[in-house]
Amino acid sequence: MTFNWGMVGHGHISTTFGAAIQVVDDAEIVAVAGRNADRSAAYAQAHGIGAAHDTVEAMLAAGGLDAVYVCSPHPSHQDAATKCLRAGVPVLVEKPMTPSSATTKELIDVARGEGVFAMEAMWTRFLPAYEQARAWIDDRRIGEVQQLEAAFGFRAPVDPDHRLFNLDLAGGSTLDVGVYPIALAQWLFGVAPTSVAGGRLGRGDRRR
Ligand SMILES: NC(=O)c1ccc[n+]([C@@H]2O[C@H](COP(=O)([O-])OP(=O)(O)OC[C@H]3O[C@@H](n4cnc5c(N)ncnc54)[C@H](OP(=O)(O)O)[C@@H]3O)[C@@H](O)[C@H]2O)c1
Repeated sequence: MTFNWGMVGHGHISTTFGAAIQVVDDAEIVAVAGRNADRSAAYAQAHGIGAAHDTVEAMLAAGGLDAVYVCSPHPSHQDAATKCLRAGVPVLVEKPMTPSSATTKELIDVARGEGVFAMEAMWTRFLPAYEQARAWIDDRRIGEVQQLEAAFGFRAPVDPDHRLFNLDLAGGSTLDVGVYPIALAQWLFGVAPTSVAGGRLGRGDRRR
């Protein structure tokens, strides 16, 4: 039986997700939703996806979904995922699950209330190197972990309008790449951080 995915968003990472689904025997992306019917249809046609919609509601109303992958910009995650959960459809939500802990708690409450699965797409948790490190720590092969040094980054040309920099789209390094070392620390130490600090990027950036 095929596991049918719906997708909210059809940008950069959706194409990576689509390539990954290609190598899974029993999974398929059957529907995609964006904000614009023409853009969604063009993406669906280019990637062999059967149905395209211009709202999450329309995609859910069409039915037939086993789960939805939410890969639109950060501020839209909560609304899209909440609609899916309320419709009884499990969600895999891109990182950051939502832009704040308060809204993420709201989303988790909805998932718990509806009894429907929700997960943040924190892919680094599944890296074999992470699993090996965890196993060594659990076996106490490297003693008590006292400190973690971790880095995650990539080169991004400064563009104040791009979601990576645009604060209206919850841009900035903390939510885009900082989440990976933070998630690693949380996973290794088993507690939430007491504080998180981020620096300024420069041109086009404003202090939060
Ligand atoms: N796991 C990873 O390694 C990884 C890597 C990159 C990004 N991400 C995450 O994935 C998310 C998307 O990043 P991206 O780089 O793929 O962004 P992107 O290239 O800008 O694509 C965003 C997509 O979402 C659609 N969209 C925008 N607003 C929407 C809304 N309100 N409702 C529904 N669709 C909407 C856009 O299409 P329309 O404008 O046509 O609606 C576009 O197709 C971010 O949260 C990011 O953190 C994760």
